[in-house]
Amino acid sequence: MQDLYYSDYIELDKILNSQHPRSFESMEDGNDEMLFIIIHQAYELWFKQIIFELDLARNIFIKGDINDNSADMSNVVHKLKRIGKILELINQQVGVLETMTALDFLEFRNVLLPASGFQSKQFRLIEAKLGLKMEQRYKTEYYKHTRRGSLSESDLREVNQAESESTLKELIIQWLERMPYLDERYWKEYQQVTESDSMDRHKFWVDYRNAYQTSLSKSEAGRLKEFDKVFFEEGRGDISPSAMRAALFITIYRDLPIFQFPFELLNTLSEIDELLSNWRYRHFMMVRRMIGIRIGTGGTSGAGYLEGTLSQHYAFREITEVATFLIERSKRPALPSALKEKASFNV
Ligand code: HEM
Repeated sequence: MQDLYYSDYIELDKILNSQHPRSFESMEDGNDEMLFIIIHQAYELWFKQIIFELDLARNIFIKGDINDNSADMSNVVHKLKRIGKILELINQQVGVLETMTALDFLEFRNVLLPASGFQSKQFRLIEAKLGLKMEQRYKTEYYKHTRRGSLSESDLREVNQAESESTLKELIIQWLERMPYLDERYWKEYQQVTESDSMDRHKFWVDYRNAYQTSLSKSEAGRLKEFDKVFFEEGRGDISPSAMRAALFITIYRDLPIFQFPFELLNTLSEIDELLSNWRYRHFMMVRRMIGIRIGTGGTSGAGYLEGTLSQHYAFREITEVATFLIERSKRPALPSALKEKASFNV
């Protein structure tokens, strides 16, 4: 049998024969279209890897209840952290394309029409699999049709399909809702310190609410209503009150060994949101430098649309905003020893 050859293994011929600039034929008239194509291809390859990691992480959740200090949990965190690293890398790639000037871009912009990154199915799949829904998008009307410059019908179908499957966000919510740490069996010995309690809530939350109330300045007093709404009445965004409580509990007691991975997980979700929005910002600024406020080749308002996505397209905003409801470590209710025992690795 013949030895495997490097370029055959990675199918290099296919990749290296896939750059066909439309604005020049010979190297003498070569321009930045080559760079433009290669940058987009490099992005799409990384998008593919992100989707691969995302699907692996989702499958770990889908296959069943996962234990908070199990190998499964550490695997999910590992995959999501890798996605974060890829996002860091592709954020830096913007700088390479920015070596092209607006005038250089004009040399070939016309040949692209009406193609646009707006039609990147893989980018939409990443957003959908993370948990961003069509109706939560800025200018939803741009996404609903399949006219010139938009996604093709079959690509749009695929994105809608990804949205209808279990998204990472939904799986995280289900996992949070299953969190067992407020089960009565761990709380028998707990002495509630807050006196009046007309609310039908776990005694821990009665004390925590009180400590939170005490931590608020006069001008922030309205936050207490928000606390009740988020953690006991409506939840926040897509996240139920019980899942929000679990996210807060993990965040407050993140020093407990059992919460090491769960906290890393929540933190990494916020990081992914942040890195994606960093990309949106850099792309938006680059677009403004390249085309000013002209409309995009994909038919959106261009930079204005991209700026709108920047303020609105977050998958895990609710998780990140848990920070609103934290109190100082020293003010936290002391946990009962039955729970502390359960929350250490040696049980
Ligand atoms: C000269 C460089 C670029 C310009 C002028 C540009 C311009 C634009 C514009 C105007 C839009 C809004 C949609 C529309 O076309 O109407 C857009 C969207 C988009 N572009 Fe670019 N782009 C550039 C480079 C890139 C690169 C390198 C990527 C990497 C894949 C990319 C990916 C995207 C994606 C994913 C969207 C959709 C964003 C969203 O809807 O949130 N673009 N681009």
